[in-house]
Amino acid sequence: MNTITLIQPDDWHAHLRDGLALQRTVPDLAKQFSRAICMPNLVPPVKTVEEAEAYRERVMAHVPEGIAFDPRMVLYFTDQTSPEEVKKIKESAHVNAIKLYPAGATTNSDNGVSDIRKVYAVIEQLEEQQVPLLLHGEVTHHHVDIFDREKRFLDEVLSPLLQQFPNLKLVLEHITTSEAAQFVLEQGRNVAATITPQHLLFNRNDMLVGGVKPHFYCLPILKRQTHQQTLLEVATSGNPKFFLGTDSAPHSKNAKENACGCAGCYSAPTAIELYAQAFDQVGRIDRLEGFASLFGADFYGLPRNTNTITLVKEEQTIPTSLDYLDGEQIIPLYAGKTIQWRKV
Ligand code: NCD
Ligand code: ZN
Repeated sequence: MNTITLIQPDDWHAHLRDGLALQRTVPDLAKQFSRAICMPNLVPPVKTVEEAEAYRERVMAHVPEGIAFDPRMVLYFTDQTSPEEVKKIKESAHVNAIKLYPAGATTNSDNGVSDIRKVYAVIEQLEEQQVPLLLHGEVTHHHVDIFDREKRFLDEVLSPLLQQFPNLKLVLEHITTSEAAQFVLEQGRNVAATITPQHLLFNRNDMLVGGVKPHFYCLPILKRQTHQQTLLEVATSGNPKFFLGTDSAPHSKNAKENACGCAGCYSAPTAIELYAQAFDQVGRIDRLEGFASLFGADFYGLPRNTNTITLVKEEQTIPTSLDYLDGEQIIPLYAGKTIQWRKV
């Protein structure tokens, strides 16, 4: 198959940032996706429906003319989030979920939840209203090895959480391990997961062998190849519990190529082509549409898109660098490398 036509995909996990960054991030994402979950880890974070509506307006102001883009908003869960805010989400036309970052887990997560047991009153409301809880699934204890943090989260946080709230609608974001994939498979239809292009295409060798490659550094960190293989299997299996979420997370070149480099890969400009590359590598390009365009919408209870996009099997070289902010640069994921698919 050298040409495929898909229902236009959606991105169920993206970081657009705010202010000047939107000039770069919104057009890049809107050219690829019909809808995107706009992650709320701004400084300060997006904590209320009112703030999310205001942020959505700022995003909308950067959508290029002639392109239809529908940003779906998410609130940032803090120790102070009130159960009443959940009802407001339920009634909102634009806010779809709430995102829980364990405090200190990743970029701009300092205001995250310090102990999930402290916020069970809000989670009870989420379960009752069937508002999705999106999880950054890593423990943050200093003594836990960075490569074990996702698995420990499953055992120590997620299992007890689902025992207490068995009908909670939940997305385990950007899964990176076989254990997480297995965990999701074992749960009911209320539990799903997103998978990024970097975790399908790369493993920790790509990041660490032959010199440290900071542009492959994201959280949760890339794992060993066996995990990459499992993620490819479940993503291409046709199981609707697994769907597209790029976790495209822009940081300027200077912030990445730094003695203390930021976590995040910027995949937005060629996201769907990167996924096509991954699916094609395992002979499963026919499974891309379900993963990219159908299962996420179904999980969120939103209508499927009706317009289509076309991908051709034709080489394209990813730009080595793009303009970002005022005079800075951003290095996209797999910069300077050639991939086999191109969106027309
Ligand atoms: C994300 C960011 O930069 O906002 N970084 C990342 O490495 N994925 C935050 C996140 O989703 O963890
Ligand atoms: Zn993210």
